[in-house]
Amino acid sequence: MVPVPLTLLGLDEHWRRTCYCGELRSEHAGTTVTVMGWVNRTRDHGGLIFVDLRDRTGVLQVVFSPDQNPETFRTAERLRPEYVLAVRGRVRMRPPGTANPNLATGEVELEAEELALLNPSRTPPLPVNEPQEVDEIVRLRYRYLDLRRPDRLANLRLRYQATRSIRTFLDRRGFWEIETPVLTKSTPEGARDFLVPSRLHPGAFYALPQSPQLFKQLLMVAGIDRYFQIARCFRDEDLRADRQPEFTQLDLEMSFVSREEILELVEELVAAVSEEVAGIRLPRPFPRLTFQEAMERYGSDRPDLRFGLELKDVSPVLGTCEFRVFREVLAGGGKVIGLRVPGKAGLSRRELDELAGQAQAFGARGLVWLALTGEGVRSPAAKFLKPEELDGLFTVLEAGSGDLVLLVAGPKEEACKVMGLLRVHLGQWLNLVEPDRWAPVWVTDFPLLEFNAEEQRWEAVHHPFTAPRPEDLELLDTDPGRVRALSFDLVLNGLELGGGSIRNHRRDVQEKLFSLIRLSPEEAQAQFGFLLEALEYGAPPHGGLALGLDRWVMFLAGEESIREVIAFPKTQSATCPLTGAPDAVSPRQLKELHLRLG
Ligand code: AMO
Repeated sequence: MVPVPLTLLGLDEHWRRTCYCGELRSEHAGTTVTVMGWVNRTRDHGGLIFVDLRDRTGVLQVVFSPDQNPETFRTAERLRPEYVLAVRGRVRMRPPGTANPNLATGEVELEAEELALLNPSRTPPLPVNEPQEVDEIVRLRYRYLDLRRPDRLANLRLRYQATRSIRTFLDRRGFWEIETPVLTKSTPEGARDFLVPSRLHPGAFYALPQSPQLFKQLLMVAGIDRYFQIARCFRDEDLRADRQPEFTQLDLEMSFVSREEILELVEELVAAVSEEVAGIRLPRPFPRLTFQEAMERYGSDRPDLRFGLELKDVSPVLGTCEFRVFREVLAGGGKVIGLRVPGKAGLSRRELDELAGQAQAFGARGLVWLALTGEGVRSPAAKFLKPEELDGLFTVLEAGSGDLVLLVAGPKEEACKVMGLLRVHLGQWLNLVEPDRWAPVWVTDFPLLEFNAEEQRWEAVHHPFTAPRPEDLELLDTDPGRVRALSFDLVLNGLELGGGSIRNHRRDVQEKLFSLIRLSPEEAQAQFGFLLEALEYGAPPHGGLALGLDRWVMFLAGEESIREVIAFPKTQSATCPLTGAPDAVSPRQLKELHLRLG
């Protein structure tokens, strides 16, 4: 594997890098420089050897000629991709007509005078020098090679720039960055915990934090006033393109603030950092929707506002309708939800059947479509609807000739959700999403609680430390499902980027919530006694939020998966092909931890 002797075992004073490969331009012609990096490609051109040398800044063409130094030339003849070199030489302009306009350094080349081969390389199992698609398992198995590729390096650089920009922004506004424990007690964020057995306390476990939620609240009790952390969080949940078992949050918390102040600050932060590091100008102010509006208008609590297609409740105009499906649903208290798809009356029967199949896959009992053509209404359901009902329908939906109208009937929430999914499907299918369009939106006032029918108990929609809207406090006793929370999510292009709330800073309200989610006083004490106690020692009103840093950087980098912006991500099945984690441990370790495998 090593066809040439190594010139050096380590770098000595003779070899000191003077610049990066990608920095050299025509103004450097005539200077002597030392560069170091990896062989990207070599070409043998009748007596001259061209080596493209790559480092994290780019590629530089290095020319070896036998006249310059025969020994160096002989070594150069044996260079292969990914060999590590140090080269000293003179920068010169490339001969006329040979400049490479696709390369930042394309006007110049380095005339090699001295070469040190610092390390050879085996043939890489993935092409580092070509933007070719490679199986992800192979990429993650050899992540250090995958990361050598310029687009991957650029993502990590962007991530670093984002965190640097975040730190500067928050520092200027008086936030302190504080670390909270990783070996801790369970913090409920709706996922399973990763547990760490304790050697010193047989049978006891630490939990890795699902978020720093409780500690940041304690920091507010401590008087820190404004805290942030770029915090690693751990959640044992099913993975997707936007979910990893360990991920990073930009977590922040503020004391003595209203919800409005938090929204303003975070909006400014997200807009400023996105513009500074990626040149993305998010339209401001970010629109706001309450949870209820979002569900009614878009059928989703994370609406993609990059395209229109708003849902409308068309039940009122179908009140006396004789179409059996609608009649039965409306009589049972359900709703008929309509959607106008502009200019799509011409979809073929096959396409419409496909759409209906899709609606069913999303949980609809059926999909009614009406195409408004020049000759009238084309629809299998048209004969069941009276002319005045059709008129009413088209007026409510503002539908005209050439449009397609879709209707789904069912219990309101269910019908809205199905139509919301269909809306997103149509957005993609009909290519309604303009590229480079950014659509941030705040969704506020989520319900505080939702009923878990399986377990017959209320659960916190966000987490149990979220405060109710003061005007809904009384409903906690009478109608918990209608209590709205002082909560908010930041949604970008249909993806949840972050979420937060004003917290319960009073023990009585916090205890009340614990009891509603059926945590007995003893359980509440055992799990969260430390928090309840802290609330009794002058806890200030406080609130905050956490943004998914990986998701944010994914957007900034224009990637489709957060794995592309994490240096060493896990696979979809939560493994690390590079290290082999998770892995078995020795019987001795198990014994020390007082564990026996079943
Ligand atoms: P939440 O659970 O909504 O809130 O998390 C905040 C944000 O973190 C990101 N996120 C994830 N990113 C990648 N992989 C995951 N598995 C994952 N899970 C969550 C999302 C999400 O919006 N303590 C509260 C915040 C608060 O109330 O201040 C919390 O953790 O972008």
